[in-house]
Amino acid sequence: MTPPDRPYHVPVLAREVVDLLVTDPNGRYVDGTLGGGGHARRILERLGPAGALLGIDRDPGALAAAADLAQDPRVRLRPGNFGDLAELLTDEGWGQATGILLDLGVSSRQLDEGGRGFSFRRDGPLDMRMDPGLPVTAADLVNTLPEAELARLFREYGEEPRARRAARAVVAARRRKPFSTTGELAEVVERALGRRGPKHPATRVFQALRIAVNRELEALDRFLAALPEVMAPGGRVVVISYHSLEDRRVKQALRNAEPRCRCPVEALRCTCGRPGWLRVLTRRVVRPSDDEKARNPRARSARLRAAERLVQDRGQGGQS
Ligand SMILES: C[S@@+](CC[C@H](N)C(=O)[O-])C[C@H]1O[C@@H](n2cnc3c(N)ncnc32)[C@H](O)[C@@H]1O
Repeated sequence: MTPPDRPYHVPVLAREVVDLLVTDPNGRYVDGTLGGGGHARRILERLGPAGALLGIDRDPGALAAAADLAQDPRVRLRPGNFGDLAELLTDEGWGQATGILLDLGVSSRQLDEGGRGFSFRRDGPLDMRMDPGLPVTAADLVNTLPEAELARLFREYGEEPRARRAARAVVAARRRKPFSTTGELAEVVERALGRRGPKHPATRVFQALRIAVNRELEALDRFLAALPEVMAPGGRVVVISYHSLEDRRVKQALRNAEPRCRCPVEALRCTCGRPGWLRVLTRRVVRPSDDEKARNPRARSARLRAAERLVQDRGQGGQS
């Protein structure tokens, strides 16, 4: 159970997010990872009466927790996956947005609720689905995947250097009894890998399973690929990542969209084959201050990147 006095989630880098995201108080903004609505509330503070905010989350519990926001006539909340943002915006009749925020990963509430199975610190069913309608749970993966496949998953999604050892221990344990709780898995991984430093030895294995169950990287890739479609000219995107698998993808996608055009300035169209449509606003990744990290340990690994769509795309790669 979650202690009733614990906030749903403390928004990370909140001031930096609104400063970078909100350029037009009457614009249309998307919070693609609504959670408890912490960032959404900050965005709304900056919007005028004609501004609008669409809040999306794939977890119905998050939408329920932020339901009070929908009393504001500027707000629309809807269930969905930000990987489907182009379709969601078409459905809303928006087409494109002035600003889009993603604050990736899980919320503090999802981690705190033992019944969701996200955390090795709380015993509960080995589930990890953000959207309870997803077909596969973490228990399904650890109980059925071949050992080599589990090792690949732990290595690629958890960046666990001793992935094979962890996978071997999981397969040996499930032969005796299939896994059904987070506690059982945390114990088997801890016994196999041992304690080395402050991090729980099952941290990376849990991260890997969560990413796989929720197909998190696929959703992020689809989102990044849809940016030219969903960002209005002059509009902005802000993404907060919590591990390098996400941050690397965001950094690369934003960089790839920057113009490298070497055509003369007077050329009307780019003919050099290096057009672009985005300007990166965060030359250096933005990280929380020591003070914020001390106040909110969940902020420790946060990395923020932002970019703005050029008002006029240069050349044949352009959309507007
Ligand atoms: C870190 S929390 C966001 C917290 C929020 N910014 C706040 O201030 O309260 C991430 C949220 O994104 C949701 N989420 C993760 N992946 C998603 C996806 N692909 N589509 C929609 N929501 C997603 C999770 O369910 C979770 O509620």
